[in-house]
Amino acid sequence: MANQVSVKYTQIFINNEFVDSVNGKKFPTINPATGEQICLVAEGDEADINNAVAAAKEAFKLGSTWRTMDASARGALLNKLADLLARDADYIAKLETLDNGKPYKLAIGDVYGCISELRYYAGWADKIHGKTIPMDGNHLAYTRVEPFGVCGAIIPWNFPMILFIWKIAPALCTGNVIVVKPAEQTPLTALYTCSLIKEAGFPPGVVNVVPGYGPTAGAPLVNHPDVQKITFTGSTEVGQLILQGAGKDSIKSVSLELGGKSPLVIMDDADIDQAVVVAHEACMVNQGQCCCAATRTFVQEGIYDEFVRKTKELALKRVVGDPFDDATQQGPQVDEEQFNKILSLIESGKKEGAKLECGGKAISSKGYFIQPTVFSNVTDNMRIAVEEIFGPVQQIFKFKTLDEAIERSNDTTYGLAAGIFTKNLDTANMYTQAVRAGTVWVNTFLAFGPQTPFGGYKMSGIGRESGEDGLHEYCQIKSVVVAIPQKNA
Ligand code: NAI
Ligand code: MG
Repeated sequence: MANQVSVKYTQIFINNEFVDSVNGKKFPTINPATGEQICLVAEGDEADINNAVAAAKEAFKLGSTWRTMDASARGALLNKLADLLARDADYIAKLETLDNGKPYKLAIGDVYGCISELRYYAGWADKIHGKTIPMDGNHLAYTRVEPFGVCGAIIPWNFPMILFIWKIAPALCTGNVIVVKPAEQTPLTALYTCSLIKEAGFPPGVVNVVPGYGPTAGAPLVNHPDVQKITFTGSTEVGQLILQGAGKDSIKSVSLELGGKSPLVIMDDADIDQAVVVAHEACMVNQGQCCCAATRTFVQEGIYDEFVRKTKELALKRVVGDPFDDATQQGPQVDEEQFNKILSLIESGKKEGAKLECGGKAISSKGYFIQPTVFSNVTDNMRIAVEEIFGPVQQIFKFKTLDEAIERSNDTTYGLAAGIFTKNLDTANMYTQAVRAGTVWVNTFLAFGPQTPFGGYKMSGIGRESGEDGLHEYCQIKSVVVAIPQKNA
């Protein structure tokens, strides 16, 4: 199945055209299932970012097709793009699997998630409006909700399609123009989608995509004076650099969706079999490369031993292998750097005294496969309890009381997501209110939809994506105050 995927677009996309990089440079993108090169991709740097921003700025000029288009017509374009993604879903999912290594089953789900997100925001396009305000004095006061103009988006490799659409859909819905830098590991699906953006009929310059590396293509986008808004998903470390860059020579609005070390608390009264399965999937899904993965499983002492035993049994059954195979649940990690990082964190867990229940090793000499790994007896100060592993590695902790579970859930610099399994409504309500995280799931985990805002507390980020709140990240408010002449008495 893998060799049925032919790559069609490898160049930079500016002004609805595919072009080589200004300096002619190219970089390889790798199939993580084999470690072999798929193809070369045009490598953008500052000169290409400058061209892309100039094209976007032109598309946003007063009087341009995009600026004068009805809001409802913008919605229709987003719906048209959703139609084209649906038409080509199978091809896009295969391309994603080839470039990222995620199982095809997951990749096709990602494409359907993109279609839902596009349709959700398509519906919003002509329903975003300001307020009339009863200002003191004889005034007509109202607000207009306006786009920023040129937005810059930098995205990672774990959900290349989803995150590309999560950035462009709300940005375009609200009338912005955008320059996107995909991750260097996974540029192919965003580039293919550019051909659909053109086919859908978006005016030239509205969406531009410049593949390349972080410091040479991402940083110039963050530093560009004509970019008004930066939206980033990735590591907390780079998020901090972006926040600094966005305030260096200009002042940009910034949204950041960063790392996590999300807790999932299993109370004694939970449905244990359901909790075992959900906790396993919440940690292992997407090869564990998920910002909101439940990487700290807290289990109450009464069911701890049974929970650990059942979790180990499940992990041993997880099917790892060719991501194009229907039976496969887990493919390779995205690249050698992530693979080595995960293996070294596993070693640290063993050294620091956690109990390795299963897994812990690389699987074959070809590709970046790692065994599903479970640690029990994990304590709060171990590196595997504190650092984002971003791999198929589950940490299980024992606790006694709800108060303790709340305190330990919050004892982290992150705050992206959290969850609890319990049949007691009071317990659930107390936990959801006390935990410092942007999303809390009860008796489920990783339940996503375009209607629900997603984002982080603390060092997991700033701002929200999806839902109505996701729109406001791409808008600024203009107050208009009009004096009304007083009628003579
Ligand atoms: P990263 O944060 O370095 O990369 C994400 C994106 O930022 C890529 O497009 C990259 O080219 C760009 N970038 C890197 N340096 C930049 C800079 N100085 N200026 C502007 N853009 C820059 O993440 P990386 O190195 O791929 O992974 C490292 C760790 O980050 C992972 O092991 C994981 O823990 C975490 N991560 C979290 C993600 C999330 O969804 N929150 C996604 C990917 C990684
Ligand atoms: Mg990096």
